[in-house]
Amino acid sequence: MNTQRLHPRRTAALGLAAAGAALALLTSACGSLTTDGAETESQEHTLDEGFHVGLLLPELQTARYEAFDRPYFEEALGDLCPECEFSYANADQDVDEQQTQAQAMLTDGVDVLVLGAVDSEAAAGTVNEAQSQGVPVVAYDRLAQGGADMYVSFDNVRVGQVQAEALIGALEQEGTAGDGSIVMINGSPSDPNAGDFKAGAHEIFEDQVEIGQEFDTPDWSPDEANSQMEGAITSLGLDEIVGVYSANDGMAAGIVSALRSAGVSVEDLPPVTGQDAELHGIQRIISGEQYMTVYKAIRPEAELAAAMAVSLATGEELEAGEHAVTETEDADGEMVPSVLLEPVSVTEENIGDTVVSDGFYSIEEICTSDYEDTDFCKEAL
Ligand code: GAL
Repeated sequence: MNTQRLHPRRTAALGLAAAGAALALLTSACGSLTTDGAETESQEHTLDEGFHVGLLLPELQTARYEAFDRPYFEEALGDLCPECEFSYANADQDVDEQQTQAQAMLTDGVDVLVLGAVDSEAAAGTVNEAQSQGVPVVAYDRLAQGGADMYVSFDNVRVGQVQAEALIGALEQEGTAGDGSIVMINGSPSDPNAGDFKAGAHEIFEDQVEIGQEFDTPDWSPDEANSQMEGAITSLGLDEIVGVYSANDGMAAGIVSALRSAGVSVEDLPPVTGQDAELHGIQRIISGEQYMTVYKAIRPEAELAAAMAVSLATGEELEAGEHAVTETEDADGEMVPSVLLEPVSVTEENIGDTVVSDGFYSIEEICTSDYEDTDFCKEAL
């Protein structure tokens, strides 16, 4: 665990409120929410004195968590609460490790936990343990079970729809929709988002394209996706595969490499989807190896998570700005006050208007020497 004071902390002598306040059904059309909607009774910490916030993230395989989620969250918390103390841990995909990390933070006296669960079902234990100590939990990006107090993520069914709509669009453009079938490589079965991505994608694919083979990929493993794609090439045959639905960019790397190793030239690659707007994903898009990715603006997600932590610790209303506050039903039937952001489809055409204009990556970061001959970089540099 990595603990850091955002500013030297003054001692916070604060009584922890009792857990288990009744869940009020609270929805506001836009912008703000009282913490009465939360599962754990709000605490009475103050921004003047500060309090202790722990952030637990799930893995190191997808670049986003260390590169963006963690620094954006820390920055946003520092802006909202300069006197707050911040602790951080990444579970590197290990369910038990995440429980140990959460326990260590609770022992250390965190006042709010922000939890990006490795496994949403297993996370229920952490959520319940924290709440029994009066520590509210913000479910971050993945909806932990057990009745989290607030939840911020993207509209994850929409993510799957956006991926599938883009793939269908590419097949239509190439005129190959009826010529064969697609391979679907979904995310980790223990991640509830993966189920939403898959459901959203299936809605769009239904009746529009045949699914030749479909896999779920434990731990979102690019290596596993690579083996699955090799298997699909062997059993379906290269000529049959007109497109590949990959649930994220990390797996798209494994998929493209399986296709290339099977002898497919860059020009002949079928369209492959992705998610996370990873730098390598964007670079594969400009070099023609990947068709699209889904850009999820992580800064607002991290900022909202910090605002939720502050709201739960202080009992002040959640300030969600222009974002609608809604509710999401978790696997236990609990309604969790939520903000769900909109995912954006990125293809070569709108890289400039999305990830570049948002400052997610600069042209220099994208157009390294290996990519300076691409049309995108020739135009941009
Ligand atoms: C999901 C998350 C994605 C991606 C994926 C792989 O839960 O929403 O952005 O990171 O996990 O870790």
